[in-house]
Amino acid sequence: MRRDHSLTWLLIGVAATTALARDIGSAAQTVDYVIVGAGPAGMVLAERLSRDGTNKIVLLEAGPKEFNATLLNTPALFPFITEPLWNFTGQPDENLAGNSVQIPQGRVAGGGTAVNGMAYCRGAASVYDQWASVSGNQGLAWTSILEDFLEVSHYAKTVNGTGDRQQLVNQTVYGHGSVGVEVSRSSSMVGYETLVSQIVEDEMGVPEVDMNDGTGIGIDRGLLSIYAENRTRSYAANVYGPALDDRRNVQVLYNAWVFHIGFEGNRAVNVTYLQQSLNGEDSTLTLRGNEIIVSAGAINSPKLLMLSGVGPRAELERHRIPVVADISEIGSNLHDHALSIMIYNAAPEILTVWQWTKNTTEAVIASEQYASNKSGPLGTGNGFVYAAFRVPDSTFDGLDGSHYTTLPADRPHVLIQVTSIPLLAGINSSAVTAWASIVQPEGVGRIGLQSSDYRDNPVIQTNYYGSDADKAAILWAYKKLRDIMDNSALQTILPEEIYPGANVTTDEDIWKAIQAQTLSYRHPVGTIALGTVLGNDWRLRGLEGIRVVDSSTFPCPTTCHPQSAVYAIANRAAKDILKSDQSSHRSTRYISEIFSWARYNIEAAHSRWT
Ligand SMILES: Cc1cc2nc3c(=O)[nH]c(=O)nc-3n(C[C@H](O)[C@H](O)[C@H](O)COP(=O)(O)OP(=O)(O)OC[C@H]3O[C@@H](n4cnc5c(N)ncnc54)[C@H](O)[C@@H]3O)c2cc1C
Ligand SMILES: *[C@@H]1O[C@H](CO)[C@@H](O)[C@H](O)[C@H]1NC(C)=O
Ligand SMILES: *[C@@H]1O[C@H](CO)[C@@H](O)[C@H](O)[C@H]1NC(C)=O
Ligand SMILES: *[C@@H]1O[C@H](CO)[C@@H](O)[C@H](O)[C@H]1NC(C)=O
Ligand SMILES: *[C@@H]1O[C@H](CO)[C@@H](O)[C@H](O)[C@H]1NC(C)=O
Ligand SMILES: *[C@@H]1O[C@H](CO)[C@@H](O)[C@H](O)[C@H]1NC(C)=O
Ligand SMILES: *[C@@H]1O[C@H](CO)[C@@H](O)[C@H](O)[C@H]1NC(C)=O
Ligand SMILES: *[C@@H]1O[C@H](CO)[C@@H](O)[C@H](O)[C@H]1NC(C)=O
Ligand SMILES: *[C@@H]1O[C@H](CO)[C@@H](O)[C@H](O)[C@H]1NC(C)=O
Ligand SMILES: *[C@@H]1O[C@H](CO)[C@@H](O)[C@H](O)[C@H]1NC(C)=O
Ligand SMILES: *[C@@H]1O[C@H](CO)[C@@H](O)[C@H](O)[C@H]1NC(C)=O
Repeated sequence: MRRDHSLTWLLIGVAATTALARDIGSAAQTVDYVIVGAGPAGMVLAERLSRDGTNKIVLLEAGPKEFNATLLNTPALFPFITEPLWNFTGQPDENLAGNSVQIPQGRVAGGGTAVNGMAYCRGAASVYDQWASVSGNQGLAWTSILEDFLEVSHYAKTVNGTGDRQQLVNQTVYGHGSVGVEVSRSSSMVGYETLVSQIVEDEMGVPEVDMNDGTGIGIDRGLLSIYAENRTRSYAANVYGPALDDRRNVQVLYNAWVFHIGFEGNRAVNVTYLQQSLNGEDSTLTLRGNEIIVSAGAINSPKLLMLSGVGPRAELERHRIPVVADISEIGSNLHDHALSIMIYNAAPEILTVWQWTKNTTEAVIASEQYASNKSGPLGTGNGFVYAAFRVPDSTFDGLDGSHYTTLPADRPHVLIQVTSIPLLAGINSSAVTAWASIVQPEGVGRIGLQSSDYRDNPVIQTNYYGSDADKAAILWAYKKLRDIMDNSALQTILPEEIYPGANVTTDEDIWKAIQAQTLSYRHPVGTIALGTVLGNDWRLRGLEGIRVVDSSTFPCPTTCHPQSAVYAIANRAAKDILKSDQSSHRSTRYISEIFSWARYNIEAAHSRWT
C-alpha cells in the first residue's frame, strides 16, 4: 500500500515536471490521511498531521462550515442552539420508567465544541493513568498527557484582569495552545455562585480546586473555553480552521456525509460520501486514502463502522451488511454522564437566563453591556458552578458497591452543577436548575443500527443508572444536592423548589422524580475503546489502514466535562501517528515538497460512485 502511494506521487511528479502549470491532481491520486468528522478530534488531527507540509489530507464534515454567528459566538446563548445538530434520541430506558433522553450532537465544523456549554474541565488524573494502562500507550498517562493539554490550550485573563471574578486557577497547568480558557467576569455572575460554593464547602468538606490540574474532587467555580479578549466561544473550528484554510496540503470538505468505508480484504482503502449542495444537487463521491481516520464522535463513529461491515456480526447480519470484521465490542461500552435535575424559582435579583431574555429591562441592559465592552451575563456560561465528590461507602450496604468503593481515591462518583438555565419543559418563570450526575457509572449502554440506511439515526440504548449501585449512588447524590440547595442561606434568593416539589419526600417518590427528569449531559464516550478494540497505535485490531481517534476511544469517562480531553488525546494521537508512519512516508517527501505550490485539487481525487 505504501509502495502504491509513493508510486502514485512519483507518477504525478513526472507528469507535472513536464507540464508545470498543470494541477497536480490530474492523475488519479491517493490522499495520505482521510479524516472523517471535523469535531475537536478531527480538527486537531488535520492540523498536526498537515503541519510540516508533507502529508496530503482531506477532512470531511457532514455539517456546514458555520451557522448563525450570534448564536455560535455569544457564550450565554448556547442553550438556544437548535441546529445544526444530529437530533439523536435514546430508546425508552426501563431504568427511567420508559422515558427516552435526547442526545443531540454537533453537526458543524468544530463538532460538539461549536454547540456545547464550554465548560473546560480535565478531572481526576487517575482516569488518564487508567487509559494508559489498559491501552499500553504510556503517552496517555496524566504526567504525559499534561504536555498535550499545554500544547492545545492557554489560560487568559480579561485585559489586565480587570473585572475577573476571584477564582482558584493553577497557572502551571495551562500552556500556549490556541484554545482559550478563562474565568467569568464579576459582571457576568448570576448571584448565587459564591453562596453555593460556600455551602458545598461546608456541607461536603471539600475545598475549592482547579479541576484542570489533575484534581478530581472539590469545588470548581468553572473555567470556560471562551476567548478572554472578546468573550466569544473558543472552539475547534476557529482555533484550527484558519491554519487548515491556509495550507495547500489540506482540503476540508463541508456538507460531506461519509456513509461507507471500503475495504480490500482487511485494509480500508476509500470512503464514500454524500456531498450535499445548497442547490439540492447532491452527489455521491468516493475518495481513496492510504489511511482512514474515523473521528465522527462517540455515536457516529461506531455507526459508520457498522455500516461499513465492522462491528458485531449479529448486528451486521440483522441488517444484511456484509461482514468485513466481526468485532463484537464496537458500539458497546457506551458511557454518558446522565444527570437528574431539580428546579428553584429565583428572586428578581438573580440574573437568570429568563431575566435577560423575558424581562425587557434586563434584556436591554444585557445586550448593551455585551455590545459596549463584553461585560454582563452574555459573555459567559450562565452561572456555572460545579463540584465533585464521593458517595459514602455505606450507601452501598446490602448490595454490590465494589465498582464504586474500589475506584482510585482521586475519582469522584458525583458531579453536581448549578446553572441559571431553566431545564424543565414548560417553565415560565425566573428559575435556576441544579443537577446531580453520576460520572463514573457502572452500567453501560450500547449503539446499534436501526437499518442499513445511513440516513436513519442509530439505536441508542442508554441504560442510565443500569446497576443497583448506580441507582443507590444517584439517589444519595440527588438527596445530598437537594439538602445543599435547600440550605437556609439560599432561602432568600431561591425561595421555592419547583421540582421535584415539597410533597416529594419518600425515597420511592424521589426515585420517581429522578426517573422523570433525567437528561443526558451530552457526554457520550467509550464505544470504540482503546485497549478493547483499538491497539496502542489507534488502529482497529485486525484491520489495516484505519484508525479511530475521538471521544469514542475513551476506555472510561473522565470525571467531568470531556471536551478538554478530546483535544488532548487527538494531539497525542497525531504525534503517535506521525512517529509510526514517518518511515513509510519518507520516500514521498521530496516529491510533495516540489509540488507544494499547487493547490491540492480535490475533484480529481474523486471517482464517481455508481
Ligand atoms: C449540547 C452539548 C453540550 C456539551 N457541553 C459540554 C461542555 O460544557 N463541556 C465539555 O467539555 N463538553 C461538552 N460537550 C461534549 C463535547 O462537546 C464532546 O465531548 C466533544 O465535542 C466530542 O468530540 P469528538 O471530536 O469526539 O466528536 P464531535 O465533537 O461530536 O465531532 C464529530 C464530528 O464529526 C461529524 N460527523 C459525524 N458523522 C459523520 C459522518 N458520517 N461523515 C462526516 N462527518 C461526520 C459531526 O458532524 C461532528 O462535527 C457537550 C456536547 C454537546 C452536544
Ligand atoms: C441568529 O440568532 C439570533 C439570536 O437568536 C437571532 O436574533 C437572529 O435573528 C439570527 N439570525 C439569523 C440570520 O437567523
Ligand atoms: C434537528 O432539529 C432541529 C429543530 O429542533 C432542526 O432545525 C434541525 O434541522 C434538525 N437537524 C437535522 C439534522 O435533522
Ligand atoms: C492595561 O494596562 C496597561 C498598562 O498598565 C494600560 O496601558 C492599559 O490602558 C490597561 N487596559 C485596560 C483596558 O485597563
Ligand atoms: C498545580 O498543578 C500541579 C500539576 O498537577 C501540581 O503539582 C501542583 O501541586 C498544583 N498547585 C497547587 C497550588 O495546587
Ligand atoms: C475573538 O478573538 C479570537 C482570538 O483573538 C479570534 O480568533 C476570534 O476570531 C475572535 N472572535 C470574534 C467573533 O471576533
Ligand atoms: C472502494 O473500495 C472498495 C473495496 O476495494 C471497492 O469495491 C469500491 O469499488 C471502491 N469504490 C470506488 C468508487 O472506487
Ligand atoms: C425585571 O427587571 C427589573 C430590573 O432589574 C426588576 O426590577 C424586576 O423585578 C424584574 N422583573 C421580574 C418579574 O423579575
Ligand atoms: C461596560 O459597559 C457597561 C454598559 O455600557 C457599563 O455600565 C460598564 O461600566 C462598562 N464596564 C467597563 C469595565 O468599562
Ligand atoms: C409567561 O408569563 C408571562 C407573564 O409573566 C406571560 O405574559 C406569557 O404569556 C407567559 N408565556 C407563556 C408561554 O405561557
Ligand atoms: C406533588 O404535587 C404535584 C403538583 O400538585 C403533583 O403533580 C405530584 O403528583 C405530587 N407528587 C407526589 C409524590 O405527591
